[in-house]
Amino acid sequence: MRNYFIAGNWKMHKTVSESVALAKDLVAKLGDCNEKLMIAPAFTALAAVSEAVKGSKILLGAQNMGPEEQGAHTGEVSVFMLKDLGVKVVILGHSERRHSYHESDELINKKVRLALQHGLEVILCVGETLEEREGGRLETVCKTQVEKGLAGVAAAELGKVTIAYEPVWAIGTGKTATPEDADAVHAYIRKVLAGLYGESSAKAMCIQYGGSVKADNAAQLMQKPNIDGALVGGASLKPETFVPIAKFR
Ligand code: 13P
Repeated sequence: MRNYFIAGNWKMHKTVSESVALAKDLVAKLGDCNEKLMIAPAFTALAAVSEAVKGSKILLGAQNMGPEEQGAHTGEVSVFMLKDLGVKVVILGHSERRHSYHESDELINKKVRLALQHGLEVILCVGETLEEREGGRLETVCKTQVEKGLAGVAAAELGKVTIAYEPVWAIGTGKTATPEDADAVHAYIRKVLAGLYGESSAKAMCIQYGGSVKADNAAQLMQKPNIDGALVGGASLKPETFVPIAKFR
């Protein structure tokens, strides 16, 4: 059976106590879920949520990470600090980081390599804007973000890498890519991965879809052959919307 990876990106939402309450509720309600699960609270809530998910099957994720190991980098959070709190997965290259904070492919790649070097799993986000899609640049954009994001990453490290295809126009807009549309882009990304690492490595890789995933579209998306999971934003903030996505089958 395919192993799906359902992840919640809480973005800049929730205080520590709100985060703990949600995490505890999810632990209680998802104990019988067979998918791979992750939640990524804000940095400020990582320590408390780490305690709340301890012993459960929910992995602790972080939403970003500094590109250096340590030093004079005001405002950054290092890979060691994340690992110290029990973080297992880090989301890198999210479009909100790329577009609002001008993170380049080179910077994202530095973070990807650093996270992998220290044993963290990585979710590398890629995806085109509406303008890029309408201008016929969807494939070029996704190919460049995958290739540059994974530069220097060895085939042996791919087991710790998930790609999340998140079309920017579908994030937080209520507009989901159709399952057919999303699957076609996932297939293309897999082709790019095959070009880099060979067919069998590409086939084994997990490619999540993200962008307005909800309980009522999750199953249809997940039925597609190239969609291996979901990276969920808004709907991950409440048990009543996240649990049905995680239990889509
Ligand atoms: P929404 O599910 O709110 O569209 O956000 C998707 C996302 O950006 C997850 O990282």
